[in-house]
Amino acid sequence: MKLDQVHSSESRSAVGDSSKSAYARERKVVPGGSMRAASWFQPNPPYAARGEGCWVIDIDGRRLLDCANNFFSLIHGHAYAPVLDAVRGAMTKGTAFGMPTESEILLAEALAARNPRMEQTRFCNSGTEAVLAAIKGARGLTGRHRIAKFEGCYHGAYDWVEVSLDPTPANWDDENGNPASVRCNAGTPDTVLRDVVVLPYDDPQRCADILRREGTSLAAVIVDPHASRAGTVPMSRETASVIQEACRRDGIILIADEVISFRLSYEGASPLFGLEPDLITTAKIIGGGLPIGAVSGRANLMAVFDHSAGKPKVSMGGTFSANPLSMAAGLTSLEHYSRPVVDRLNSLGDLLRTRIGKGFADAGVAATVTGMGSLFRVHVGPGKVTGYRSAFPTSEAGNLIRRIQLAMLDENVLLTPNCSGALSSPMTEVEVSAIADKLVRVVRRELGDHPGATT
Ligand SMILES: Cc1ncc(COP(=O)(O)O)c(C=O)c1O
Repeated sequence: MKLDQVHSSESRSAVGDSSKSAYARERKVVPGGSMRAASWFQPNPPYAARGEGCWVIDIDGRRLLDCANNFFSLIHGHAYAPVLDAVRGAMTKGTAFGMPTESEILLAEALAARNPRMEQTRFCNSGTEAVLAAIKGARGLTGRHRIAKFEGCYHGAYDWVEVSLDPTPANWDDENGNPASVRCNAGTPDTVLRDVVVLPYDDPQRCADILRREGTSLAAVIVDPHASRAGTVPMSRETASVIQEACRRDGIILIADEVISFRLSYEGASPLFGLEPDLITTAKIIGGGLPIGAVSGRANLMAVFDHSAGKPKVSMGGTFSANPLSMAAGLTSLEHYSRPVVDRLNSLGDLLRTRIGKGFADAGVAATVTGMGSLFRVHVGPGKVTGYRSAFPTSEAGNLIRRIQLAMLDENVLLTPNCSGALSSPMTEVEVSAIADKLVRVVRRELGDHPGATT
């Protein structure tokens, strides 16, 4: 489907009747009517029926240009033929075994070939599990249990890394003006809050001070150097080098959480920021559209999980870990995410952000686009976004973001609820131009109604 077809159903409403009635049924059997808060929005999301390349077709038959890509996990879009062939091939032999398969060796080798710091890997089934295992690994290696993480950064649904995931201006400072450890879920024990040191994403000096004070008590610093919830902005080189130095100085395990940001280069995100992590967590694109997670690192550190000489320092396993379907899909997907494909997709991302940024500037609207490689996010407001706090929307900006997302849906473009997106390899300049033109038009219209939202 090309640009003219994208425009053809502009007059239709964002969510069709079949999706509305599916949602009414789901509300009866699922709390909130959705399995994932992140894929839910009011009045209700469209329900997917199937996908084709960069398009998703909902159960009302609407074709949406998919920038959500199952939360950035589908680097080749939907139903990518080589991945389907690989999965079909694997599936006909059986779906899971209480034995290792050669497919797990192939995917671990593929990761090691991309980045020497991923010399060895253990697979699991989600990014959350990978982060959980990496932190346990860091504890086993250091004999310490506290960790440090950056304010507002998401690393999965695990008590310790959920600390300060969503603080607000009312509670985000402690009595010294440093980021406070803020409870995300009701009932999280105070001990968890005490054991998590929270770092500011865009204040290297304060990071250095906090780490100098807390460093020797830390098992790990976990960092995503291009964190989506912290604004989808690259971390500064200064901050990256502050944490790298602190980890070296105080014997802290540096965990790079590249669950999303692995896509930023052939080798992953860390080398782009001068980071030399001890452990790297990945998921999403390395599973080719099937569930996956992975912890990787140099053999001497990954030995913490090695059971072959008796009980390991840290156990890691799971019934469906390294299941052959995820392994086959992931291997094929990575093989097709070659250097030229990475470069092409990153150039398309540059083009997209340039066009959107210019469109906003020409229109004089107080909105910005951030991101890197094939990732982007739109923010409303006059200020520069450098991290979690500057990305934190006022209530008016939050409402506008919701309206922009819905208006984009009306334009047949699916963004995530916070107006972020990821490109996939089936996209070309045609789709990228469509996304940019529509976003600029929509933002101009929505912000035009709000006098404070122009520059
Ligand atoms: C940086 C990061 N880490 C971890 C996770 C958790 O991954 P999963 O949803 O596969 O559990 C996510 C999910 O979006 C993520 O973005």
